[in-house]
Amino acid sequence: MQKLVIHGGSKLQGEISISGAKNAALPLLCASLLTADTFAIHNTPRLKDVTTMLALLEQIGVRILTNDAGTAELSAAGITNPTASYDMVKTMRAAILVLGPLLARTGQAHISLPGGCAIGMRPVDQHIKGLQAMGAEISIEQGYIRAQAGRLSGARIVMDLVTVTGTENLMMAATLASGTTVLENAAREPEVIDLANCLISMGAKIEGAGSDVITIEGVDRLHGCSHTVMPDRIETGTFLTAAAACGGDITLTRARADTLDVVLGKLAETGAEIDTGADWIHLHMPQRPQAVSLRTAPYPAFPTDMQAQFMALNSIADGTAVMTETIFENRFMHVQELKRLNADIQVEGNTAIVHGIPLLDGASVMATDLRASACLIIAGLVAQGETVVDRIYHLDRGYEQIEQKLAKAGAKIWRTS
Ligand code: EPU
Repeated sequence: MQKLVIHGGSKLQGEISISGAKNAALPLLCASLLTADTFAIHNTPRLKDVTTMLALLEQIGVRILTNDAGTAELSAAGITNPTASYDMVKTMRAAILVLGPLLARTGQAHISLPGGCAIGMRPVDQHIKGLQAMGAEISIEQGYIRAQAGRLSGARIVMDLVTVTGTENLMMAATLASGTTVLENAAREPEVIDLANCLISMGAKIEGAGSDVITIEGVDRLHGCSHTVMPDRIETGTFLTAAAACGGDITLTRARADTLDVVLGKLAETGAEIDTGADWIHLHMPQRPQAVSLRTAPYPAFPTDMQAQFMALNSIADGTAVMTETIFENRFMHVQELKRLNADIQVEGNTAIVHGIPLLDGASVMATDLRASACLIIAGLVAQGETVVDRIYHLDRGYEQIEQKLAKAGAKIWRTS
């Protein structure tokens, strides 16, 4: 099994280029199922989750051509198998995103029910409830969601809670429904807007993406399009937090500051000096960071996907931070690993109290999920001595060449088997 070895103590300096967003690319690839025409997605990140999604789409019957420049050309003219097997869904929960488009386009879908995962239970009841409101007949049989419908009908759907992939699934399904669908309490994440923009360029009629009410007027058919995946705001935030934690001066290119307002605000509270332009962000950290308290919540509030990275920063910050996780019930698995590096953290329910200490000690640690892996890398970069991060397959699901990008900026980090 591969591991990352990190020798802490270097400052990050120079330029890092940001990849396309994983959480935008995955729903965008599924949108290919909504048309028989050729559909091209550019700036697709080279990630395990993207490879898994492409393999799933191929099993469904989509013909796919990819190139090294990050373009995927997909043609779903012949959908032969509207199924996502347990093997696929257990590898990548985002496989649930084929449910809405398959049902809308073919009238059927047979999707394995995702189980719980390391960070929480993560049910998909809101996806199912929304599709039922649009007229789908759905049953759960032998661990599979069996969904059938004639043409879906527009409906007013008030979601019980804010769900990102739930909003994306229902928005995709509604594009081909008859009549108007109104999604209330919709997710406002930038990835939802990116998907809506792609659907609109396929001929969909969507208004309100980016607000909590999205209105979709169904059309008879969608056509092909060419769309570029937005930059990854969580990758961007991860490198910025790393630079703020270990001191440094970095410029991130192909980055979008407007998707990171709250994260940039928190980094400024730590003492980092930040400048932004249309497609770049520069961060200079002149001092030991100040501790910052935060509470995760749906966009535009502080993202749960940045909580673990900020915990690594708070571990060595000046002061005490109170960090509350409100999205996932079990997203503090990295705390035990940070403690192995000597971090001083107490967890009470969904709140972690982090007392910053001047320096962590390197140790062997184990990654438990994608963002926990990023947290442990940041901790390794600021720890004295050697840190070895095990189970980095989580990392390869969502960060493109992270160790190469960090090494280019001066970090002492490499991969071993
Ligand atoms: N939820 C329900 N019922 C549903 C759907 C969600 O109870 O039908 C709950 C979840 O259990 C969770 C909360 O609602 O407690 C929010 O979950 P959401 O559905 O928004 O999460 P998701 O769509 O499964 C996406 C990202 C996650 C990110 C979350 C929250 C993708 C592919 N995944 O997941 O990304 O943490 O939104 O922002 O977009 C990651 O990249 O590391 C990652 C986990």
